[in-house]
Amino acid sequence: MSSNQLTDSGQLRHFLTIEGLKQPLLTEIMDRAEQFSGITNRQVKKVPLLRGKTIFNLFFENSTRTRTTFELAAKRLSADVINLNINTSATSKGESLLDTLHNLEAMHSDMFVVRHSQSGAAEFIAQHVAPHVSVINAGDGCHAHPTQAMLDMFTIRRHKQHFPDLRVAIVGDILHSRVARSQIQALSTLGVGEIRVIGPKTILPADTQTLGVHVYHDMAAGLEGVDVVIMLRLQHERMQGALLPSAREYYDCFGLTDEKLKLAKPDAIVMHPGPINRGVEIASTVADGPQSVILEQVTHGIAIRMAVMSMTLGAQSEQQEVQA
Ligand code: CP
Repeated sequence: MSSNQLTDSGQLRHFLTIEGLKQPLLTEIMDRAEQFSGITNRQVKKVPLLRGKTIFNLFFENSTRTRTTFELAAKRLSADVINLNINTSATSKGESLLDTLHNLEAMHSDMFVVRHSQSGAAEFIAQHVAPHVSVINAGDGCHAHPTQAMLDMFTIRRHKQHFPDLRVAIVGDILHSRVARSQIQALSTLGVGEIRVIGPKTILPADTQTLGVHVYHDMAAGLEGVDVVIMLRLQHERMQGALLPSAREYYDCFGLTDEKLKLAKPDAIVMHPGPINRGVEIASTVADGPQSVILEQVTHGIAIRMAVMSMTLGAQSEQQEVQA
């Protein structure tokens, strides 16, 4: 668990991991996102909540969905947002991560949104920033992707309402997935009835049993009667050595096809954090089919990120008032 993501009064100071957060806080994030999602339908999609605040997007690893929805969320809250281009920044001239951060702090930044290939990078940055700066983890190595997990919970709640009644299956490369780790923590905290993980032994963590989930190596058995199917990409960039026989065989055994989806409940929803690899972990007919909520997840990412940004910067302001 992160040592310092909550204030003394239990509010979000940073958002680094789902681990250790209580159910009321996760519900508060979703409730706040529900309020913000209405703004998206307005002609003027802006509220002045973070006017005057400066937010830096620091993406040391590639991203499409997370970076752009953080940027949109910041703009809709009226913050000034800067996307630092890491490839053309001075980090490529040998400047250390902390020196880069301290230079950005000197520009009166209020928040860093950080994606990094190293697990623990966001936590490390949070330990070294000035007291008024919030850090949000936008995905660190195989460790955590808390805003992705929250937008996934929000999407499930929109469709299924009552978490304890649900059976949720997460399928694929759990071993290398920061998304799966954060999802399992969020689903457990929200009291989901049954969490299943499905995949070949080589890409499930050795300690899976300790996560409080049911493990299946047979896709048909694992999908039987579930309400939610979450598909994951094979994360080749984090695999060391050959963990799978072939993409074709993987698809035959663990790819989600229309036929396999029929084993889930008829009203089951299909989710995927993206990017999707069609014909590897999911058939196009499923990804684009009536049960897919994959693009809805992307849309909900804006409201969830607005909620988390406003909560962390709100907590910071309150903390400063207390300390003044
Ligand atoms: N889901 C997700 O993190 O996607 P990106 O890598 O495009 O941000």
